[in-house]
Amino acid sequence: MARSKAQIYTCCSLILLCIVVLIVCAVVLAKRSCQEETFASAAVAADSAMCSVIGRDILRRGGSAVDGAIAALLCTSVVNPQSMGIGGGSIFTVMDSSGKVKIINSRETVPKTFKADLLNGCPKTSQLISGGQWIGVPGEIRGYEHVHRLYGKLPWASLFQPTIKLAREGFPIPEVQGRFVSLLDSNDTLPLRKLFSDKNGKMLKTGDTVKFEKLADTLELVANRGADAFYTGKIAQDLIRDIQDAGGTLTMEDLAAYNVTVTDAWTIPLGDFQMHIPPPPAGGVMLGLILNIIKGFAADSSALKGEQKILTYHRYVEALKFANGLKKYIRDPQFSSDVMAKKFTEQSFADHIRSLISNNETHDLQYYNIAPHLDSMGTTHVSVMAEDGAAVSATSTINHIFGSKVFSPSTGVILNNELSDFCGRADHIVAGEQPPSSMSPVVMRSKSKTLVIGGSGGSMITTAMASVLMNHLWLGKSLEEAIAAPIVFVDSKNMLKFESTFDKSVVEALMALGHTQQTAKYFYNVVNAVEKEDGCIRAVSDARKLGEAAGY
Ligand SMILES: *[C@@H]1O[C@H](CO)[C@@H](O)[C@H](O)[C@H]1NC(C)=O
Ligand SMILES: *[C@@H]1O[C@H](CO)[C@@H](O)[C@H](O)[C@H]1NC(C)=O
Ligand SMILES: *[C@@H]1O[C@H](CO)[C@@H](O)[C@H](O)[C@H]1NC(C)=O
Repeated sequence: MARSKAQIYTCCSLILLCIVVLIVCAVVLAKRSCQEETFASAAVAADSAMCSVIGRDILRRGGSAVDGAIAALLCTSVVNPQSMGIGGGSIFTVMDSSGKVKIINSRETVPKTFKADLLNGCPKTSQLISGGQWIGVPGEIRGYEHVHRLYGKLPWASLFQPTIKLAREGFPIPEVQGRFVSLLDSNDTLPLRKLFSDKNGKMLKTGDTVKFEKLADTLELVANRGADAFYTGKIAQDLIRDIQDAGGTLTMEDLAAYNVTVTDAWTIPLGDFQMHIPPPPAGGVMLGLILNIIKGFAADSSALKGEQKILTYHRYVEALKFANGLKKYIRDPQFSSDVMAKKFTEQSFADHIRSLISNNETHDLQYYNIAPHLDSMGTTHVSVMAEDGAAVSATSTINHIFGSKVFSPSTGVILNNELSDFCGRADHIVAGEQPPSSMSPVVMRSKSKTLVIGGSGGSMITTAMASVLMNHLWLGKSLEEAIAAPIVFVDSKNMLKFESTFDKSVVEALMALGHTQQTAKYFYNVVNAVEKEDGCIRAVSDARKLGEAAGY
């Protein structure tokens, strides 16, 4: 009897052991079943491999998606200082692990005092706009503080450590940074040129070691003492003095009074997907409108076959022209009505615009009700997905290349020129108002898929994202192919600008339909995205900025 009891015990233990082994195998196999170029747990798609890796390591150490995004953005502020930094602002679209989506907006604002005739100084053509008068109140660090308070898991200071080390010890100037440093010339401010010069005053170039020591000091103080160290006290005093020396109007009061706004995302149904976007003054509603127009024209890959491809691109370009005409309704909702912007998210409005698009012709500016405005450039984006399913889509900017080109020597901060985003889109501005933006950090979900996506490149953001989403969601391209696909950008005067590898036969056919084109010197469009489908994560950073994603 005793013996058989022992046998039963042994038997049960063995069965239990087998079950445990089977479960472990199933879990391991499920993870292994993801294809080689995908990740099983989490991923970060930033502008550069260096910053994607820093973000990934934060996730691996138990950080939240928000922790990963903040660390990757701080890193980007030294790897691509021409694009973004703590002297700028950002918009975070955050989906928590339960699927709830919030927007944390820390875009720059108009200071309390500003040049009365500021907008008279807007240039008539799209060009870099520099000078202290264009500096808006920077929100970047307040934004990080807020979003970290809501969603952070790791200590605040730990998110800064990798970047402080990079900034202090220096690193070889990456190719993209080097490209923009080489464009600095004697018209640019001495402090900014000195930042990128060696001891003998010679300008640095790609591969030379660059250090950001003053910035390292500032970041260390903010890491140890929190965001208040940036917005009040010694750093704030130094920063304001440097800004005023450069002709800026910001005061200590402006910094101290800066407020982050937290809102629910706006949600647009798009086929099987729910698309979560930041409300105005962000550009998400324009993106949603374009996609809703296109969806009625280009439902599957047959839209790219033969002659159909020309018609598809004609209609796509027409949709972009209408979007240009409607841009003027995107303003800070705290200062003007968002009734029109809300309308843009409605299916019936997209249907109406679609009915105004003909197959055989294009029209003059009047037809699209286009008010003159200017195109802009710059910015960065990071897409993050964490193990718990939470996702962050964050776009950050100092606006144009090197922002206002004002560098604060005593704090190491490069200041934005965000107020120039009002140019051509507003005839008066109000203290506290946020300029309109093309930034549209997006999180999209269907039953089987989550897509975290965003872009940089100023006015090119909307086009770049619309192109990727159209190609990926409907026209059968993989995420990688869709991001690599050459774009056609419609500028503020409705000129078409094609990336050099764009299908020449389509270009010719579009010209025959009456569109006009112009050669563009630079394309700033960059899209970084992370997608989760069937438990496997695909992360793609745009090769245009030599980006690379990281995950595990
Ligand atoms: C400085 O700006 C002026 C006016 O825009 C331009 O003509 C000149 O070529 C610039 N200087 C350099 C060194 O590029
Ligand atoms: C920020 O919020 C505080 C408290 O509500 C308010 O006193 C302050 O005026 C706000 N700042 C701005 C620039 O509106
Ligand atoms: C395009 O088609 C419409 C309707 O068929 C016609 O009225 C119009 O004249 C055509 N335009 C051109 C430029 O051929």
